[in-house]
Amino acid sequence: MSDLQGVRGTRDFYPDEMRLRNWLFSHFCAAAQLHGFEEYDAPVLEYEALYTRKAGEEIVEQLYGFEDKGGRRIALRPEMTPSLARMVLARAGALPLPIKWFSIPQCWRYERMQRGRGREHYQWNVDVWGCEGVEADVELLAVLCTFFGRVGLTPGEVGIRVSSRKVLQEVLDSVGVAGEQFAAVCIVIDKLGKLPPEEATAQLAAHGLDEAAVATIQRVLGLHDLDALADALSDGSVAVAELRALWALAGGYGIADWLEFDASIVRGLAYYTGPVFEAHDRSGTLRAICGGGRYDRLLSSFGGKDLPATGFGFGDMVILELLKDRDLLPVLAGSVQDVVFALKLELRPAAMEVASRLRAQGRSVDLVLEERRLKWVLKHADRAGAERLLLLAPEEWKRGFVKVRDLATGAESEVAPDAL
Ligand code: HAM
Repeated sequence: MSDLQGVRGTRDFYPDEMRLRNWLFSHFCAAAQLHGFEEYDAPVLEYEALYTRKAGEEIVEQLYGFEDKGGRRIALRPEMTPSLARMVLARAGALPLPIKWFSIPQCWRYERMQRGRGREHYQWNVDVWGCEGVEADVELLAVLCTFFGRVGLTPGEVGIRVSSRKVLQEVLDSVGVAGEQFAAVCIVIDKLGKLPPEEATAQLAAHGLDEAAVATIQRVLGLHDLDALADALSDGSVAVAELRALWALAGGYGIADWLEFDASIVRGLAYYTGPVFEAHDRSGTLRAICGGGRYDRLLSSFGGKDLPATGFGFGDMVILELLKDRDLLPVLAGSVQDVVFALKLELRPAAMEVASRLRAQGRSVDLVLEERRLKWVLKHADRAGAERLLLLAPEEWKRGFVKVRDLATGAESEVAPDAL
């Protein structure tokens, strides 16, 4: 029996769910395309080595990996960013900059199951490569806000918490922690709330952080106000200047209401180097809706020449939970417009001719394929959400007409096939 169940943590999409998924994806695509992004794709399989980073990230521990028949270590992608980096690197120098691309890949992670988290999810990715300035980061935030607005969410319901890896970088510099520890320390800090306190302290101590240093970090990460951050960091802080510039540009886009500065946003991936952000539902009941940030040094970790880059990943699961909670999910009808039915067996060829005519005009037509009673056909047409029922009846057809019933009004008329 167990062989007949789907793999734990994976989903089937029945037509109702598929309609909803397509609706969601259409808004993902539209928000990206409205900002001039182009779609790309990559295979779900990659060499496992593309993901084996050493900073202790969850994403690496959760990798679905296996050996293929040729003895190579392969992984199902847990995220799109390394594939995108591989694609950019493969055409380094040949791609016109900036690169503004989006994609909606299925990603795989061996996660602990919880609301809004599964072992596969579709993740809308939007990235800009080749722009050093915060203009690119703000562009991504604008894409996000456009999306939220399109699906009916407001800044009262969703907030995007923004900080910068440079905040933590400057704090670590001030307490004398060496640069090469930076990514690993970020990963531990990101887990602070989730790890038992002794465990967190031990892990931070292993990276050279004593109790006083941890207290300093925690104090700064508790800040929610840029002026307070400016007071806590040294004069001329790059982090503060960058975040202030980001807010000024966000004002230009009219999206500042969605944003809040939150120094505790560090993100759990090793490669981020600058502004980082996560969107959350303001009621605080769900996991992060999406997350992203700047990763200017990913290519050199693959042995290439660096190119500035920034982007985000946005899963399909939390957002659907949120939209359901807020009663914002649309009721979506199927795509069938016309149902065609031959009342007599010998009228089947005529029904097919009528169906073909309509399909050639671009109408979505469902031809009733079996012998049924009219009552069943009416119910079927209603369930399909069709606009019209076209009946092939012996007498009418002999006179050269099809009986057409408007399913909204119930009005019936006789129409010649070439006038349909
Ligand atoms: P991430 O924070 O690991 O970042 O994932 C981004 C988003 O993907 C999450 O906020 C969530 O919406 C969704 N997500 C992640 N894991 C799961 C899961 N197990 N089930 C359901 N949804 C999930 C990244 O993956 C980065 N590569 C994003 C990025 C793109 N940064 C720059 N460009």
